[in-house]
Amino acid sequence: GKDGYQHFMEKELHEHPLVIGQTLQRMIDPATRQVVLPELPCNLAEVPRAVMTACGSAFYAAMVGRFWLESVARLPVDIDIASELRYRDPPLTKGSLGLLISQSGETADTLAALRTLRQNSAHILSVLNVEHSTMARESDAVLGTAAGPEISVASTKAFTAQLTVLACLTIAVARSRGMLDAAGEEELVTALLDLPSRAADALAQADAIRSMARIIADASNVLYLGRGSMFPVAMEGALKLKEISYIHAEAYAAGEMKHGPISLIDNTVPIVASAPFTPLFDKTLSNLQEAKARGGRLLVFTDTKGAERVSAIAEQMVVLPHVHDFTAPVVQTIPVQMLAYEVAVLRGTDVDQPRNLAKSVTVE
Ligand code: F6R
Repeated sequence: GKDGYQHFMEKELHEHPLVIGQTLQRMIDPATRQVVLPELPCNLAEVPRAVMTACGSAFYAAMVGRFWLESVARLPVDIDIASELRYRDPPLTKGSLGLLISQSGETADTLAALRTLRQNSAHILSVLNVEHSTMARESDAVLGTAAGPEISVASTKAFTAQLTVLACLTIAVARSRGMLDAAGEEELVTALLDLPSRAADALAQADAIRSMARIIADASNVLYLGRGSMFPVAMEGALKLKEISYIHAEAYAAGEMKHGPISLIDNTVPIVASAPFTPLFDKTLSNLQEAKARGGRLLVFTDTKGAERVSAIAEQMVVLPHVHDFTAPVVQTIPVQMLAYEVAVLRGTDVDQPRNLAKSVTVE
């Protein structure tokens, strides 16, 4: 049941802290505070590159994973949505790691992409929530997301669990490639172990998020912005808003705004920015100032450090505790999902069963 919540989506949003904690428990040895993965199909130190693929929200998790694998583990990563990858026939580097991400393990396009990668003799590692799925059977190894059953069609907790697994995988890859010493690993693991509490802090922002939702609920178009690891967070926010509130939303890498979408900006198109204080904060801030100068209404998800700088131009802010750059995308995902939920509730849509959508897309 819904445990007293109004919708499964609301219940599942509240499971973020628990699910992140459960997923970490599977992958971090509490005694050594080191990431310990199950047996993998290949030697991580020898993999020349990874090919990541998925659909929908899982694809945005893959984008965050690419950001981490490249920047922390220095592993070259190709990434594509599964429905494109399966027909592109890309030349694969021998011994590549195929990295598939799926909640259901049954998504037709992701499964077809898995088979395409297999035919090109990639090692197949899947990040799956349903561990007895078709994709699980066809993979060389599975990293499980301990998210439990997800009933709401719009994915919430499975997404943050995917990020948690990809963060742990990144640490393991970085260590085996000699990119992370013991102190570096300890720093990142400490940041990960802090996540359940920080996720709870995000949930505690429900009032501020509801107040943002009132502005969004009256809009016909919304622009989501983010840079670096926050770009996929912006995409996740925009997808979730489209899916359950039926409001058109588009996510842009903040630096790309001036190459086109800036012409859309006026006071009828709210701008939702994911802008915690990471090394890219100043770059995002300057894009937000440009938007503000053109009459844009800025609704900003930030952290305590970013709030000091962005408060002068933001119409509304949701301020989360400042966390390590590495884990910021996990924490910042939660409020953008909550925003979509609150808007859908205000608009009175069928939150858990949005029109035209199915939980598992098993046909092409
Ligand atoms: C978004 C959503 C979909 C799924 C996508 C992939 O809220 O639910 O975009 O993420 O259909 O599904 P899985 O992860 O089962 O492969």
